[in-house]
Amino acid sequence: MQALFGVMVTRSVSAVAELGVPDALRDGPLYYTDLATAVGADQRALHRVMRMLSGVGIFTEAKPGTYALTPVSELLRADAPGSMRDLAVMITARSHWLPWGRLADVLRTGESGPRLAFGTDVFTWFQAPENLGEWQIFNDAMTSFSMGTAHAVAEAVNFGRFRSIVDVGGGHGYLLDTVLATAPRATGTVFDLPGVAETAPPVDRVTFVGGDFFQGVPAGGDCYLLKHIVHDWSDQQSVVLLSNIARALAPRGRVFVIETVMPDAPEAHPAKFMDVNMLAMTEGGCERTVREYAALFREAGLALVRVHPTRSPVSVVEAKKGS
Ligand SMILES: C[S@@+](CC[C@H](N)C(=O)[O-])C[C@H]1O[C@@H](n2cnc3c(N)ncnc32)[C@H](O)[C@@H]1O
Repeated sequence: MQALFGVMVTRSVSAVAELGVPDALRDGPLYYTDLATAVGADQRALHRVMRMLSGVGIFTEAKPGTYALTPVSELLRADAPGSMRDLAVMITARSHWLPWGRLADVLRTGESGPRLAFGTDVFTWFQAPENLGEWQIFNDAMTSFSMGTAHAVAEAVNFGRFRSIVDVGGGHGYLLDTVLATAPRATGTVFDLPGVAETAPPVDRVTFVGGDFFQGVPAGGDCYLLKHIVHDWSDQQSVVLLSNIARALAPRGRVFVIETVMPDAPEAHPAKFMDVNMLAMTEGGCERTVREYAALFREAGLALVRVHPTRSPVSVVEAKKGS
């Protein structure tokens, strides 16, 4: 039953995050009528959702009908350090909810969820004028997601030796900002789709450049980061992208692919969840084993150097020029 009802928890967490319920509880518990007034919700509807979420530990019902934050919902406040609020909103936003709703058809046909739901891939769909709000939710969610892993990545690798760091598909620059804090001599470039680069708030020592990484990437960097990029694409597309980076890379430079690396073991692992998300949401994207990354690198004119584990679910797969 937990497996079946889990979707109700997820959808309810998204909805209360969207309404700002955790933010309204920031200064202490509230009775549901006051809480509903604070967030502009229907009183009875909010009470029923909060009662269920409190039963599973997302909130707590201190007295009947009075709700308070728990350590879990603290993380859903927009202003919490490492806030997961935007990720919570995105996970059931239209961009994800509708493609995921087609999972049985994905299984039957091998088509991607966005192609079945929207008739196109998700990044093309985001760029349509009527979906710009959804794109903003997605970009904010990527920053939220990065808050949980960027610091672990910056700790796991010595970036202090680099001078020019390019974050390919770097979104709004949270990872690069975090990495640059450990690389005082470096400057940074975030390369992303023009609609992302144009809307990014300024980041110290970072230039935002818009473009298509399948056409090429800014040249001359001695360090290229790709976080949650290669898993979005098929092997064929990934080789095009990595070949563009191999061409742009300074002779003794390094490429760092940051992903949840697929283990060979049968146990549950975050990579296996992320992999099914890629199955539902992308056209041929997947999580890969170290051996599979090594094969992609070889085809792209790169060579695996090593894998750096981090104290988060992602690992950093390091490559250099060569075959
Ligand atoms: C899954 S997000 C990861 C964002 C960021 N690296 C992170 O980990 O938070 C994928 C990123 O790739 C960008 N992207 C997708 N297609 C692209 C393309 N053809 N050229 C450049 N960037 C692209 C998206 O706009 C998005 O920012």
